[in-house]
Amino acid sequence: MTAKYLVTGASGQLGQQVLHHLLASEGVAPADISAASRKPDQLKEFAEKGVLVRRVDFDDVASMEAGFAEAEKVLIISTDTLDRPGHRLAQQRAAIAAAEKAGVKHLLYTSMPEPVNSPLLFAPDHEGTEAAIQASALPAWTIVRNNWYFENVMMSAGPALASGHWYSAAGEGKVAHIAREDLGRAIAAALVAAGNAKKTYTLTGASSYTHREMASLISAAAGKQITVIDVPVEGLVQGMVGAGLPEPVARVYASIDTAIAHGSLAGITGDFKALTGREPQGFEDWIESQSGAFKSMIP
Ligand SMILES: NC(=O)c1ccc[n+]([C@@H]2O[C@H](COP(=O)([O-])OP(=O)(O)OC[C@H]3O[C@@H](n4cnc5c(N)ncnc54)[C@H](OP(=O)(O)O)[C@@H]3O)[C@@H](O)[C@H]2O)c1
Repeated sequence: MTAKYLVTGASGQLGQQVLHHLLASEGVAPADISAASRKPDQLKEFAEKGVLVRRVDFDDVASMEAGFAEAEKVLIISTDTLDRPGHRLAQQRAAIAAAEKAGVKHLLYTSMPEPVNSPLLFAPDHEGTEAAIQASALPAWTIVRNNWYFENVMMSAGPALASGHWYSAAGEGKVAHIAREDLGRAIAAALVAAGNAKKTYTLTGASSYTHREMASLISAAAGKQITVIDVPVEGLVQGMVGAGLPEPVARVYASIDTAIAHGSLAGITGDFKALTGREPQGFEDWIESQSGAFKSMIP
């Protein structure tokens, strides 16, 4: 059995959205899709529709070579492996090497905006993976740089709604968030459209917001005032360490604010519309739709 499209990370939240949109929005036949994951037992719903299910783990070269050999186009979803420096980059380089060896015609990768020389501490994984793709012998590829998910806002909203304070080192920097579902939709479109070219897209929302603007929108939706307190990045790190986070992890999270302050996540592009023919979901509409979730975060 061979499939036209293989999606790695298929049990993850983005992988699920890509599979859904390949079937529902792009009209791809289930038998043309291979859903690849470390957890194939979690993909029964897709298997029942006729999607091929394969066990693929970026820490297991043989699993990648076997899975990728059956596919024409392979989507590599960046992993969430942040256990030790260099592990995620090694996994993704191994995936690229396996795709080359398996004769994949087109490789797609989910990266982040402006990964080169970024102040974000995990950006070198994306920079290194993009460089490995560009240096590879793959005949064609697509790099899809995803801006931050709307859903990430929940991580800041929880503590902010509990205390009434949002400690931020992002200053007046803005983020052009986009819904995770919209990313799944655009990546499915990019997979189907992918031909013989080498392309880079940056997927963003249609507007960008500072932490202060986000706090004001969340306050209105939740019915509780959140005040943004500006702190230096080191203050943010020490606050997270005081709350129980290991320091290296706190430094990674705090570097997100540094990247926002630097403007790395503020750029707005038309790439979502170019791929899907639609406008991305609006951030303010999404915030309003989460009113119940925000209210439930108030102690
Ligand atoms: N743009 C953003 O705001 C943002 C936010 C968070 C994360 N991300 C990045 O985008 C990726 C997808 O986001 P998500 O929301 O779907 O995250 P998620 O639900 O936490 O999923 C994590 C993903 O990592 C994959 N993975 C972990 N270890 C792997 C391995 N050894 N081999 C192959 N795949 C492995 C998982 O695949 P299986 O479990 O199916 O094997 C799964 O697809 C994340 O992994 C992360 O790199 C982006």
